[in-house]
Amino acid sequence: MFRIWTWISHAAASNPTGADALGPVGFKKALFLLHTGFMSTSTRLSMWEEIVRRGVPAMALELSDAEAVQLTERYGTHNYKPLAVNVVRGDGAECWDGSGKRFIDCVGAYSAVAHGHLSERVIQAVHDQLERLSLASRAVYTSELALFLKGLAEYCDLDMVCPMNTGAEAVETCIKIARKWAYTVKGVPDDKAEIIVCEGNFHGRTTTIVGFSTEEGYRDHFGPFTPGFKIVPFGDLKAVKDAMGPNTAGVLIEPIQAEGGILIPPDGYLEGLRKLCTQNNSLVIWDEVQTGFSRTGKRFAWRWEDAKPDLMAVGKPLGGGVMPVSAAVGTQGVMEVLRPGDHGSTFGGNPLGCVVALSALAEMEVEGFSEMSIQKGERLMKGLASLNSPRIKELRGRGLLIGMEVQEDVDSAQLTHNLIAQGLLTKETRHRTFRFTPPIVIEDSLVDEVIERVGKALAAL
Ligand SMILES: Cc1ncc(COP(=O)(O)O)c(C=O)c1O
Repeated sequence: MFRIWTWISHAAASNPTGADALGPVGFKKALFLLHTGFMSTSTRLSMWEEIVRRGVPAMALELSDAEAVQLTERYGTHNYKPLAVNVVRGDGAECWDGSGKRFIDCVGAYSAVAHGHLSERVIQAVHDQLERLSLASRAVYTSELALFLKGLAEYCDLDMVCPMNTGAEAVETCIKIARKWAYTVKGVPDDKAEIIVCEGNFHGRTTTIVGFSTEEGYRDHFGPFTPGFKIVPFGDLKAVKDAMGPNTAGVLIEPIQAEGGILIPPDGYLEGLRKLCTQNNSLVIWDEVQTGFSRTGKRFAWRWEDAKPDLMAVGKPLGGGVMPVSAAVGTQGVMEVLRPGDHGSTFGGNPLGCVVALSALAEMEVEGFSEMSIQKGERLMKGLASLNSPRIKELRGRGLLIGMEVQEDVDSAQLTHNLIAQGLLTKETRHRTFRFTPPIVIEDSLVDEVIERVGKALAAL
């Protein structure tokens, strides 16, 4: 334990950014705790022995919020700027920090925690599956994978599934499939395939994907990038039409730009894209990683119009709020271009993930997540509008994917701070827009609390 103590104390002492995250008082408190021996029960064991003896969850419970921030900032790369909140427990749409302060979770892990924290049915399925098999690889067949492939394909009203883990991998998989389809089915000359994407897009963080981002911060110093992408304004059908040509493999678009600021395209856009792609023999590729699985009030956002895709990337809530599960899903004529060796993932389609995903899908259907999303979304939207705050410029959204854009003169860092003080977790997306993507299972009473707390946070500006 002495080594752990030294290890943590060194981390805190040599950490400059943790001080920022905690503020000077929190930082001093952390150092005080460290040097007065916060793990008083521990003996002089090495960290590894300690883990074996007591288990990580017990050790995690002993860390103060301040210590958790210090270690994270000292040993983790600084590619995130988290809210100054250390979450130690979650239940449904609520979570708590180490001091017992309660928060309503309106980030919902960026829409991934649709089922709420620790959904009973999903967790039960995890326990049951862990009695038998957690990880095999695609070197063998598993019954769990078989059921998952059928279940997800049917749920999506498509034919075949390529399982992955994260959303970015699902998008990458769609890009590879679309290109191979272009060369082997459509007849595009080698290395000439083009994919049309939109300004303000967000599809993940791989080098290929950030290469066609229009956010400088996502691209700067990460080039050179993969060629073959054409960028058009979001919501503009004519721009897509003009960008199309014989080498267009497909259009890759989010039906609603979520990270881009909860931007909803004009009516008819999705359907129009479908028609354009059919006329041009190109693929419609919806990125439903954030909008999928009832978030907008339908199984998928494309279902708000007649816009069935040829290929689709899904992820986030497919993991039931437990683990990463994603997939590329598509029609047979497109998906069957993949041959053994073309693509893969060690963890993609693992039995535990498959069980989690199927249980998550079943929960969504049995509990009527789409209807819930519409009802809760309307309640939240109406409530926020009824605040009549001059600080709010616009409220946008569909279902429980809601953005509150604030006026230019609002100090958004201060608003974030006020919201945290009110016990509400939310993060700003682009365009000064605060996201509200709580778990879809959020109770009406909590929705009302969110409205009240936002009102107080705005009033305190
Ligand atoms: C539309 C969309 N696509 C892809 C991704 C990437 O997902 P992941 O972070 O799981 O890689 C995100 C993440 O927010 C997203 O919103």
